[in-house]
Amino acid sequence: MAFKNLNSVLVVAAAVVLGVKAVDNGLAITPQMGWDNWNALGCDVSEELLQQTARLIVDYGLKDVGYHYVILDDCWSVGRNASNNSSLVADPVKFPNGMAAVADDMHALGLGFGMYSDAGKYTCGGYAGSLGYETVDANTWASWGVDYLKYDNCYNEGYAGNQQISSARYRTMGNALNATGRPILYSLCNWGEDYPWNWGSTIANSWRISGDVYDSWDLYDARCPCEGPNAFNCELPGFHCSITNIMNKASFIVSKAQPGAWNDLDMLEVGNGAMTDAEYVAHFSMWAAAKSPLIMGNDIRVIQPKDLAILSNAAVIAVNQDPSGSSAARRWMYDTNNTDSNGYPARIQMWSGSLQSTTGGDYSDMVVLLINGNNAETVMNATLADIFVDSGEQGTAPQVKMSWEVRDLWANRMSEADAAAIIAGSSAAGNATNATTVVAPRFNVSSTSYAEGLASNNSILLGNVTTTVLPSGTVLATVAPHGAAMFRLRALPTAVMKRDEL
Ligand code: GAL
Repeated sequence: MAFKNLNSVLVVAAAVVLGVKAVDNGLAITPQMGWDNWNALGCDVSEELLQQTARLIVDYGLKDVGYHYVILDDCWSVGRNASNNSSLVADPVKFPNGMAAVADDMHALGLGFGMYSDAGKYTCGGYAGSLGYETVDANTWASWGVDYLKYDNCYNEGYAGNQQISSARYRTMGNALNATGRPILYSLCNWGEDYPWNWGSTIANSWRISGDVYDSWDLYDARCPCEGPNAFNCELPGFHCSITNIMNKASFIVSKAQPGAWNDLDMLEVGNGAMTDAEYVAHFSMWAAAKSPLIMGNDIRVIQPKDLAILSNAAVIAVNQDPSGSSAARRWMYDTNNTDSNGYPARIQMWSGSLQSTTGGDYSDMVVLLINGNNAETVMNATLADIFVDSGEQGTAPQVKMSWEVRDLWANRMSEADAAAIIAGSSAAGNATNATTVVAPRFNVSSTSYAEGLASNNSILLGNVTTTVLPSGTVLATVAPHGAAMFRLRALPTAVMKRDEL
């Protein structure tokens, strides 16, 4: 019947229309993945850091699960060379062989090289910015072999305050990048100022939606002034924004995510040490479901096994890299009787979103994400009516009358022993042992893309079946304090139903 195909029809229609609207550089058809040094290391950058991190990304199998760009953040230059077309000059102490050599090193490992600059007079760290030098800088990066630009917003000389002014400033660099003829992924970093989700998609591949993330689940910090469930229209994006603060901001603009152009919830904090394991699991799940770029922000040289296991979870990454390219949406959020770190009611929330069908049937798979903001273990439930509300309100969606296989996407998280063995066996970490390590099979994007893996029902991507939800039923999970449960729902074949049952 016609309505049965509604989800997939909508997805196809969206892809056709959106393919025209998104920036036309052919990049980030699914959210970009990689690593950036800022969250863990700030200005402490060097050629050696990038080289060693890149080798570890390969050795630890992180490249295999999709992390591709190694992004050098702020503090890499010593200014401009007046006698060479005013081009930017890399710091010769930090980068003795120059940037082109670093790019070559990344490329030799099959990785991309990312660069940082600022649409202002200076970068946020006070180094030379690119405002007024867009063409010369884009050409310099292209000549070095740069594949990615993160473009910041400090010292913008007041060229902000409305969408036209900000978008024009960022468009200048987008045009300059495109004019180089080199495909360079363009990542806007203007912290959500002047609503980049409204204009970013025609200019760039992603745009930050908030002030800087920090390694905290829900602690309020006055330097990130927009808090609470209705925090939107932030005039001062600030920084020190908690995970739940950014999730809230994302909830209002999920529909802006589309192939080639994504809401950037900021770099991951997984592995930086200040959150619990459950909080990192929830953070990673949320960023994946909201189709944020997944840019690791930890020091890979000292990664702990449990964090490698989170970052390597291909079943969760497959949600992020789903070919249908639409973000999950928040369906509800409730106060509980408990309080959060700030003394406000702790909240539980449920997000769901459609994914490519892996059953070959008419109905999309569905991701369901239960987030427990409570400081206590909580039994959470999500009704099919709420999960499928986009296909019909108040339980009227045809999917509510079906049965669904429920697959736990965290069930096959790599064991800590396997992760420890991978770390111990890395020659790049100087740890190579001769021990034979038995590691569970892993996904590898260089032989099979996520789209292919999903189309062929690759079991690594599908999680573990936990139960079946019957018509009008409920998905149930016991969720750790500040943790998440994440499921892929797959339609079960329906018995032939009588006309009045449909
Ligand atoms: C901030 C940006 C951070 C980092 C920093 C570098 O504006 O949001 O992600 O790039 O500047 O100074």
